[in-house]
Amino acid sequence: MRRFLAAAALLTSAAVQAAPTVTIYSYRQPFLIEPMLAKFTEQTGINTEVVFAKKGLDERLKREGKLTPADLVLTTDISRLTGLVDMDLVQPVASDIVNSNLPKQFRDPDNNWFALTLRVRNVYSSAERVGKVDINYEDLAKPQYKGKICTRSGKNAYNIALVSSMIAHHGEAETVQWLEGLKANLARKPQGNDRAQIKAVAEGVCDYAIGNSYYYGKMLSDPKQAPFAEPVAINFPNQDNRGAHVNVSGAVVTKYAKQPEAAVKLLEFLSGEQAQQMYAEANMEYPVNPKVKPSPLVAGWGSFKEDSLPIYQLAENHQAAVKLLDQVKFDL
Ligand SMILES: [Fe+2]
Repeated sequence: MRRFLAAAALLTSAAVQAAPTVTIYSYRQPFLIEPMLAKFTEQTGINTEVVFAKKGLDERLKREGKLTPADLVLTTDISRLTGLVDMDLVQPVASDIVNSNLPKQFRDPDNNWFALTLRVRNVYSSAERVGKVDINYEDLAKPQYKGKICTRSGKNAYNIALVSSMIAHHGEAETVQWLEGLKANLARKPQGNDRAQIKAVAEGVCDYAIGNSYYYGKMLSDPKQAPFAEPVAINFPNQDNRGAHVNVSGAVVTKYAKQPEAAVKLLEFLSGEQAQQMYAEANMEYPVNPKVKPSPLVAGWGSFKEDSLPIYQLAENHQAAVKLLDQVKFDL
């Protein structure tokens, strides 16, 4: 019996040693990522370690070079994903599972980046003062909206991506005019995060605001914040033409990953049905795996047409968008 136990102990320690650990650099928050990683470890025996940060992980990865412990990076915004590719910090992934989980528009044609969630940049409106509206992003620059719009800083990635989409559709010259019109219509200087814009509509600071879809869902499901979201309506812009601007969060496997196979397993898991369901429920984002439905709350907002502009084209216009936002001194 004792010999058996000793052998079992040996086996266990060998198994523990053999189980790889995937190291993740994450711009996404612990509440969202940790429950999924626990499930992943439970199902695969692969351990995970996460470095959470709000910024600086790209530079850290670059500085660490071949010595980096990071196998995978999780981030929001397509330009951050392609930025890692441009910095030569990622490696392509060939996985039939990932490819069957994700439609083509949600992965890099060169297999360098993979989207994991989808978000819309909505126009919010006061349910009491204006009700639900059929609106285009272009309308926000019209004189009738003077003093009525709230938005966060033009230095924010979500707004930069929206401006990138305007450049893709209208060119730089028209986009500058649009930005000037929008700036002239703001109820206050750009400030606060997306939730603060929804709150400002509720408080009567402005009748309209620009913000990402999931913040509205998260506010509605939080008893403390729901009173600020309930008097606000969510609108999907440009429904009679090109569709609403969307962006993604996603992942890359690092160029110098020590555990590339385990990292790919994690990517397969995160794009799979169970994790996609967890993303949808925990963060009110839209799943990118078509087999998974949005949360009931999000589904209640109805279906919508999304801009068919390939997502990577937002990244291509990122620098131009930053330049134009600067040029019109959007935040001043
Ligand atoms: Fe966000």
